[in-house]
Amino acid sequence: MRIRDLAAAFLLAVTLLAGSPLPAQQAPAQVAAPARTPDVPYEPTPPEIVKTMLDLAKVGPNDLVYDLGSGDGRIVIMAAKEYGARGVGVDIDPQRIAESNANARRAGVTDRVRFIEGDLFATDFYPATVVTLFLWPSVNMQLRPLLRALKPGTRIVSYVHDLGDWRPEQVVKVKGQHGERNVYLWIVPASGAAAGERVQ
Ligand SMILES: C[S@@+](CC[C@H](N)C(=O)[O-])C[C@H]1O[C@@H](n2cnc3c(N)ncnc32)[C@H](O)[C@@H]1O
Repeated sequence: MRIRDLAAAFLLAVTLLAGSPLPAQQAPAQVAAPARTPDVPYEPTPPEIVKTMLDLAKVGPNDLVYDLGSGDGRIVIMAAKEYGARGVGVDIDPQRIAESNANARRAGVTDRVRFIEGDLFATDFYPATVVTLFLWPSVNMQLRPLLRALKPGTRIVSYVHDLGDWRPEQVVKVKGQHGERNVYLWIVPASGAAAGERVQ
C-alpha cells in the first residue's frame, strides 16, 4: 500500500513538472542590462508622429538618418521602408537593440538600417544628413556642441524638447500620449555662423 502511494506521488510530481508552461531550457534568451543607466527612459514615439518628424525633415532616398536613443528602431525603420532612406539607430540598452534588429528583419530593411549598441555621446554621427531626437532637455543641451559640428544643411528633428535658445526653422504641433506636443526642425548653419542661425 505504502509503495503504491509513493509511486502515485512520484507519477504526480513527474506529470506536474512535464506540464509546467516554461521549463528553464525553453525560457526566452535573456538580454544583458545596459552598460550604465540610460540618460532617458524608454518611451516610443507614436507612429503618426514618427511620420510627422520624417516629413518635417523632408527625408528622401539620399538621406542617412541617425536616431540618437533609437528605442525599438521605429524611426530609422520607417525612414528606410517608407522614405527609401538609410538609417542608423544608437541605443545604450541591449534589449532595445535586440528588438530593433528583429523589427528591421520583419520590415525587410536590414540592408538599409543598422543598430549600434552604445552611448550616443560616444558615437560618431557626423555622417548623418538627418538626426532625430526624443530625449530630455538636459541631454539635448549636452548634445548641442556635437550637433553644431555637423555638416551645414544637416536637419535635426526633435520630438517634445527644444535645443534651448537655438531658433527652430519650424515647429509643428502634434497630439501626443500626454496632450499637445511640439516637433522641432533645425538646419545646421554654415560653419562660422552663430548657433541657431538659419542657413537661409
Ligand atoms: C524616449 S526613448 C526614444 C526612443 C525612440 N527614439 C523613439 O522615438 O521611439 C529614449 C531612448 O534613449 C535611450 N538612451 C538613453 N540614454 C542613452 C545614451 N546615453 N546613449 C544611447 N541611448 C540612450 C534609451 O534606452 C531609450 O531607448
